[in-house]
Amino acid sequence: MQNQGHKKDPIGVFDSGIGGLTVVREIRKRLPEETIIYFGDSARVPYGTKSKETILRFAKEDINFLQSFKVKVIVSACFSVSSNALDELKKEFAIPIIGMIDPGVNALSNESCGKVGVIGTNATIESDAFKKKLKDKFGDIDIYSAACPLFVPLVEEGWTEGDVPELIAESYLTPLIEEDIDSLILGCTHYPLLNSVIKNVVGDYVTIIEPGKEAAKLLEKFLIDNNLRNNGKGSLKVYLSDIPRNFERTVVNFLGEVPGGIQLVNLKD
Ligand code: DGL
Repeated sequence: MQNQGHKKDPIGVFDSGIGGLTVVREIRKRLPEETIIYFGDSARVPYGTKSKETILRFAKEDINFLQSFKVKVIVSACFSVSSNALDELKKEFAIPIIGMIDPGVNALSNESCGKVGVIGTNATIESDAFKKKLKDKFGDIDIYSAACPLFVPLVEEGWTEGDVPELIAESYLTPLIEEDIDSLILGCTHYPLLNSVIKNVVGDYVTIIEPGKEAAKLLEKFLIDNNLRNNGKGSLKVYLSDIPRNFERTVVNFLGEVPGGIQLVNLKD
């Protein structure tokens, strides 16, 4: 990844909506001195049910918007984008782009990858992106994947504990548990908020991987390698293409803090 940015330039992060703030949360913890510009395409969420072509088109618009801030690097926090469109985006844009698939794969150690489970949106699972990268890195391992489309609306409703999410999780995850998976990659922005429900269902012996944490590490390494780490005081500015109705509660759930400024933006402007 080449870069002509400066230390003080912001980091751009985008997602289909506000779910990507779970990734921002990890970046803020690891790199508190960085300025982050976040764009969430909340007017067009979900991406995870859309075709590859539409996901690619939306992602290009998201990146064009972030580039207007002279960002030094972009993080595609959306797994549906990262799994369906990252190669094309990297070809199209000169700016370095970090996706979520490599971090998820990197987080697995050789010991914990005998039988790997992967969950995500329909778009992510149908792309087989995790499967391909896992096979590239670890060779002939067993991979079991499942789309869990109801997890996104559950989390957006704030329904992240109790019988209902647990029953739904059981129904999605039982086929993976029956295969004796030893690790499970949470391949979607929203799933870290269901971590304890998922843990209850899969049991303690399954290692749960949250790629957002690893993406923050990868981003830090990129900044260090390219001499781009800022040393001032960091901040976060959030831009959304719609302000969702339940937005104040949801944003804090995802981000773990009240964001400083939120601005509505129309991508066609
Ligand atoms: N952000 C999406 C992802 O990580 C989940 C929500 C959606 O379907 O757009 O895949």
